[in-house]
Amino acid sequence: MSLKGKDFLSVHHLTVDEIYQIFDFARILKAKQKAGEPHPLLKGKTLGMIFQKASTRTRVSFEVGMWQLGGSALFLSSNDMQIGRGEPVKDTARVLSRYVDGIMIRTFSHLEVEELAEYATVPVINALTDLLHPCQAMADIFTALEHKGELKGRKLCYIGDGNNMVNSLLHICAKVGMDISVATPANYAPDATIVEQAAVAAKLSGSKITILDDPLAAAQDADVLYTDVWASMGKEGEQAIRKQAFAGFQINNTLLQAAKKDTIVMHCLPAHRGEEITEDVIEGPNSVVFDEAENRLHVQKAIMALLMAD
Ligand code: CP
Ligand code: NVA
Repeated sequence: MSLKGKDFLSVHHLTVDEIYQIFDFARILKAKQKAGEPHPLLKGKTLGMIFQKASTRTRVSFEVGMWQLGGSALFLSSNDMQIGRGEPVKDTARVLSRYVDGIMIRTFSHLEVEELAEYATVPVINALTDLLHPCQAMADIFTALEHKGELKGRKLCYIGDGNNMVNSLLHICAKVGMDISVATPANYAPDATIVEQAAVAAKLSGSKITILDDPLAAAQDADVLYTDVWASMGKEGEQAIRKQAFAGFQINNTLLQAAKKDTIVMHCLPAHRGEEITEDVIEGPNSVVFDEAENRLHVQKAIMALLMAD
């Protein structure tokens, strides 16, 4: 079993063993980093990072992660690249592959990332598309593992928009045997193909998937409560209509009471306080949102090292 040379586009493509291989390695790299022990596994290697959307956590965690691994990272804004002026993705893939050892991309269309990966001869990492956010979901479930000690049989409840975040959470929960209940307004349900993919994985792992439109019912006995913005990047024009549609799809104190007493509250960030989550809950004792943000660094370092190291 080796991830070397592979792409990282979706958790759906990973085996359960590969997920735990990444988690185990992330734990080791996190300990080394905390102890100040050098771990230059990617010495002399370069990561090209293409961004067609804004980012704080993803950009900084990948860039700092490459430095900590002894390599370097290039921030490539699509506004400044020829890809932003219409150069084909397949040409960009082959050109960059002649310069760098790995490509990370954040963009709109998931198909574009698949095309990039098809033509690139170096590993491609999906750092968010409209469909998926696999690096975030890996960091989140690694965080849940740290807090809960085990994943199988635990329940994650996602409240809000059926977006890239819940799609990747469905993939990973189904793989690792966590139950997942999702509450979205009826018109904003998760992608049907993704739900089917998760259902297949859930059969193997014993995980239970429930898709509802009632937040309180979904939150019953949850070990993890998760939410994300009502309007993702690219949907800013729908903000007003979404505010109406999502009223009530909020992690607040009432919802917290429905979950287990020791539930942990997660959000991939950036958060909109007063919309999908209240100030008191995100700042309260159940919230682990900054642990999740930190773990982006450690989990992505593990992914990059496993994909790109000699
Ligand atoms: N969670 C996340 O991906 O954050 P950024 O958009 O800041 O990268
Ligand atoms: N669903 C959000 C996640 C941001 C990290 C978005 O796509 O904008």
